[in-house]
Amino acid sequence: MSLNQQQVNQFNSQGFLVVPNFYSPEQCKLLKAEIHRIIEDEKNSTHQSEGATFNAEVEDGKQNTEKYFMESGDKIRFFYEDLSEKESCELQDRPLNKIAHALHWHNNVFKQLSLDYNKTSSILRSLGYVKPSICQSMYIFKREKVGGAVRPHADGTFLMTSGPVVGLWMPLEDATVTNGCLWFEPGSHRNEIQSFYERTEESNFKTMKLRNPQQYDDSKFVPCEVKAGDLVLIDKAVIHKSEKNTSEKPRDAFTFHVNENYNADWSKLNWLQPTGSPASFSKIYDDSI
Ligand code: FE2
Repeated sequence: MSLNQQQVNQFNSQGFLVVPNFYSPEQCKLLKAEIHRIIEDEKNSTHQSEGATFNAEVEDGKQNTEKYFMESGDKIRFFYEDLSEKESCELQDRPLNKIAHALHWHNNVFKQLSLDYNKTSSILRSLGYVKPSICQSMYIFKREKVGGAVRPHADGTFLMTSGPVVGLWMPLEDATVTNGCLWFEPGSHRNEIQSFYERTEESNFKTMKLRNPQQYDDSKFVPCEVKAGDLVLIDKAVIHKSEKNTSEKPRDAFTFHVNENYNADWSKLNWLQPTGSPASFSKIYDDSI
């Protein structure tokens, strides 16, 4: 599944691109079944993960400074909806917001359909990636009636590097304006990213702060409705958002981010750092050798 020149041009001019049929209906079903198996395993585990809430609407990033989040880069961890006091209940009884950030590494089904998936490599070679790796993966739930909004942002705010980063986002249900599809500000990737989510020196780099938060003009966003299994490619600098899921239908999505390692420096201030010895993210291929 290579991109043709017209698709590459469109991605370069708009900052995002829809590629139909990245996953077949059977593959979408397989991913949904696997995530439910992971949830069941967790419920039945004698060592249940402590869990945390996640609210992508909070601007100061306080909820992301918990140790549970900060150490989740190379693990499969569970994040729940941040409900209002009125709706509040035990953490593990809340609806899940996402399971993240290393499904592509620890789970064979997710690994085969991301890291080891031929279509991933073909797409990345079309975009000129030389030595790409997956730095994070997430299964996002956006449950019917409760799935929260994600405020406008560029992914590069959270993934700071001198090289390119691209998000691959695949809904496992049809994504529409009522169940919380993505919205983009086309061409906004040509502006430099202004806000950065950085580890802070005062806390010995154990927590984060959003430096220079930006406001965005809602009238510039266009909806990006796509079918289950389609791929949406997202440039690290393009501004995008999604609204609350107000429908009766869920909007599950699997997404992962790819960073270029060739001639690129990963910022030490990112919350997400490569681990292992030598420290690295999960390599997809290396055309530099
Ligand atoms: Fe994003």
